[in-house]
Amino acid sequence: MGTALDKEAVDNGTKYKDAIHTLGSYLVHRGQRTWLYPTIFFNLSTVGRKQKTLLKEIGSFRDHVINQRRKSGSYKNLYQEVMNEQENDYYLLGGKKRLAMLDLLLETEEQGKIDVEGINEEVDTFMFEGHDTTATALQFAFMELANNPEIQDKVFEECQQIFGTSGRKPTMNDLAEMKYIECCIKETLRLYPSVYFIIRSCKQELQLSQKFAMMEMKMVIAAVVREYRLLPITKPKDVVFTADIILRPIDPIYVKFEKR
Ligand code: HEM
Repeated sequence: MGTALDKEAVDNGTKYKDAIHTLGSYLVHRGQRTWLYPTIFFNLSTVGRKQKTLLKEIGSFRDHVINQRRKSGSYKNLYQEVMNEQENDYYLLGGKKRLAMLDLLLETEEQGKIDVEGINEEVDTFMFEGHDTTATALQFAFMELANNPEIQDKVFEECQQIFGTSGRKPTMNDLAEMKYIECCIKETLRLYPSVYFIIRSCKQELQLSQKFAMMEMKMVIAAVVREYRLLPITKPKDVVFTADIILRPIDPIYVKFEKR
């Protein structure tokens, strides 16, 4: 969103993150109790009431972040500048100035293409589904790379082929070139599926185009491996898992970063 939660408001930001985790545990709680499926029963239950309060807290923090950005109006010039840039992808991904998703949403609102409710939903989507999933997958990916140096070397080689000795930031084309890193991410997700359940069934053939998470993870892995050699501390065999709305390690995963 372009907003550093902990800088924006340390207390509220931390509360927000915790609330999202707790919300996930409520979802699992409800999923395991068929008698809580009807909304009327769930709303009357203790967890249902707690969820209502949590959603209020989450909503007010989200509104605060959105309103502050709207008031600042800073997104307007930035959006125009980006649109004037020729190499948009470079600008968006690695330029000095960044256009946050929230800026895009606010600009789209000005054009009358989305309303406040729509913005709220998009922000919730990115905050709820968009951060824990990739963060957990990245933890596991770093642990595996640290424990499999020969694979990590290949990732580094791929980065060198793409970037050479330059320290430039990746473009969209570079991300598409990261074929081996993509294999590593897919293998990580096979071993440690962040979202380990599927609650809906697909009734018709569907070509997936949804690639945001893959791009995000490629960027992080390439940025880290280009600069650091990952050395193992936590071993995969020692990881104990817990499964709430996503699959997580019970204890933190430790990896040592050594400057290349
Ligand atoms: C490693 C990363 C991720 C994994 C493994 C993952 C996995 C999944 C899976 C398996 C589902 C389907 C759940 C079901 O309905 O049964 C799902 C749904 C969804 N994910 Fe992700 N996801 C990831 C990252 C993200 C990110 C980064 C976003 C958004 C920024 C996102 C947004 C969504 C949304 C909005 C849905 C619901 C789509 C719908 O309504 O049909 N996910 N994800």
